[in-house]
Amino acid sequence: MSGWTVRGGRLPAQGAVVVTGASSGLGRECALELESRGFQVLAGVRRQEDGEKLLAESLHGRLRHVVVDITDEASVLACAELAEREHGGLRGLVNNAGICVPGPLECLDSDQFRHQLDVNVVGHLGVIRAHLPLLRRARGRIVNVTSGLGKAAVPFLGAYSTAQFAKEALSDALRRELAPQGVPVSIVAPGAILTPIWSKVSEAGERALDGVPAAVAEPYRTAFRAFMEGNAQGAAASRTTPEDFARAVARALTDGRPRTRYWVGADARRMGRLARLLPDTLLDRQFAGITASVRGPAERHPR
Ligand SMILES: NC(=O)c1ccc[n+]([C@@H]2O[C@H](COP(=O)([O-])OP(=O)(O)OC[C@H]3O[C@@H](n4cnc5c(N)ncnc54)[C@H](OP(=O)(O)O)[C@@H]3O)[C@@H](O)[C@H]2O)c1
Repeated sequence: MSGWTVRGGRLPAQGAVVVTGASSGLGRECALELESRGFQVLAGVRRQEDGEKLLAESLHGRLRHVVVDITDEASVLACAELAEREHGGLRGLVNNAGICVPGPLECLDSDQFRHQLDVNVVGHLGVIRAHLPLLRRARGRIVNVTSGLGKAAVPFLGAYSTAQFAKEALSDALRRELAPQGVPVSIVAPGAILTPIWSKVSEAGERALDGVPAAVAEPYRTAFRAFMEGNAQGAAASRTTPEDFARAVARALTDGRPRTRYWVGADARRMGRLARLLPDTLLDRQFAGITASVRGPAERHPR
């Protein structure tokens, strides 16, 4: 072993890992997968009963839950204290928790936009800050979960895309800052995977246009509704699974030389490639169909 990486080969799946947002979906799958591979897992949940449910599914006696809301500093610090007390250090921190606030940007108020960024960006930085001493101590790694939408911003998911772009930048800067300290930072970027997030997004989408004046909402309504329906269908048809995601996280934690990025799913990889290769105007065309029926200013303000 040289420094914090090994040439070729793999690191053993040993030591403690914190996974945030483990109550459902990708985080739940990831917590169980990492436990099955040999890690001691501290699974972050917001409600005690979700932790107990997860514990009942755990098969190897190496998982315990910790109640943590990543926007609540006290609970984040308590999580780090527990990790220190029980394990001394951390082999991994998986920043997975997240929400998606859908809606045309004009229809979101500042509190909604801020909440998106608070959870998906600011909260993660707080978690990282609190756990870094433990990661340094145990030669640990950080895994940040972003999305295909961290490279190309989709209309009507502008707040979510903004948060994912920000988490990408956070990850890049952190990786460069922490490299000399031997703490690798990897991004795991999934495409659409059917998890509870999609029903939450659909429900939030139903309400997204309620709080704004009709004159603002109406021009978007038809296009937005069609987009939300298409989105839900796309997720339901996706062949990428939570297990694919969990395997990618496990690789990020055990690869001899961790990659900077692990795409999960052909759609995410394609989005990344398009964003890298296409000029903005061509990329705009990829998304033009989504907003084709949005009424323009002439129709909004007829003379
Ligand atoms: N599924 C996809 O298609 C997809 C694609 C790309 C990226 N992602 C990303 O993958 C991650 C997991 O998504 P998912 O699909 O598994 O969604 P999910 O099933 O809705 O799970 C989200 C998790 O985040 C937790 N969470 C929300 N706000 C939190 C907060 N303030 N503090 C702590 N935990 C919080 C939720 O806890 P509660 O149950 O308490 O709300 C839940 O455990 C997200 O970051 C998402 O952006 C998902």
